[in-house]
Amino acid sequence: MALVDIAKNTDYDIDRTHGTREVIDYIRKNDDSVDEVLDVFAGDGSFCSWLLYRLKSTNELPNVTHLEYNSNRHLKLADRFGRHRQNCFNVDSYDWMEKNNNKFDLIFCDNGMGDNEYFDVIPLLKDNLNKSSWFVHNINVRPYGMFMSNTSWQQHRSHFYDLKQTWDCDPEDLLNITSDRLKEAGLSVNWGTLIPRELYNGHIYLYHAVWNLK
Ligand SMILES: C[S@@+](CC[C@H](N)C(=O)[O-])C[C@H]1O[C@@H](n2cnc3c(N)ncnc32)[C@H](O)[C@@H]1O
Repeated sequence: MALVDIAKNTDYDIDRTHGTREVIDYIRKNDDSVDEVLDVFAGDGSFCSWLLYRLKSTNELPNVTHLEYNSNRHLKLADRFGRHRQNCFNVDSYDWMEKNNNKFDLIFCDNGMGDNEYFDVIPLLKDNLNKSSWFVHNINVRPYGMFMSNTSWQQHRSHFYDLKQTWDCDPEDLLNITSDRLKEAGLSVNWGTLIPRELYNGHIYLYHAVWNLK
């Protein structure tokens, strides 16, 4: 399997998990003690969240907590992962993280759709993560489609990255700025790396960013 070009491959059921599989392999090679995982924008779990159950190299499964606020998607999610456990919550992720008292070894943040990127999750990380832990999210370096007319998304990105123009960015720039935001939120960054996730017309527009935190 390779990176999918979503401009050329429009089949609904095409497997777009190449980048996320690379992330899981990367973390598993670096750290086999990831037990408690939070999946912030879980959807119905069928796109890539199911890969979180492959985080351990042994036969053990990590404990994954999934958060999804859309009721229909949550029903499918709970049917997929939560039939025997209370691990799939039909909640707003931000509210839940604000009130939560448990700590996680990894927080996985697939974009929440619309203008919900990972930006507003960052201030909540410190209270939800163990000392030695991981944070994974997407970095969209070149939004395609209707981005130019989506004022709220544009403004959100410009505000977070402190850049006027965010429709065609240098991935390393966005990684560095994110590192600054993590530090501002009180996190101690060990390292961060980019893993290509998806192509649009031959250009990598979407990366996973993987952060190791001390
Ligand atoms: C791209 S999908 C996630 C796909 C998922 N990783 C999977 O494997 O199926 C993003 C999901 O985030 C949900 N979402 C957006 N904002 C949310 C919020 N504040 N709290 C909880 N879920 C949210 C959306 O309803 C959507 O289902």
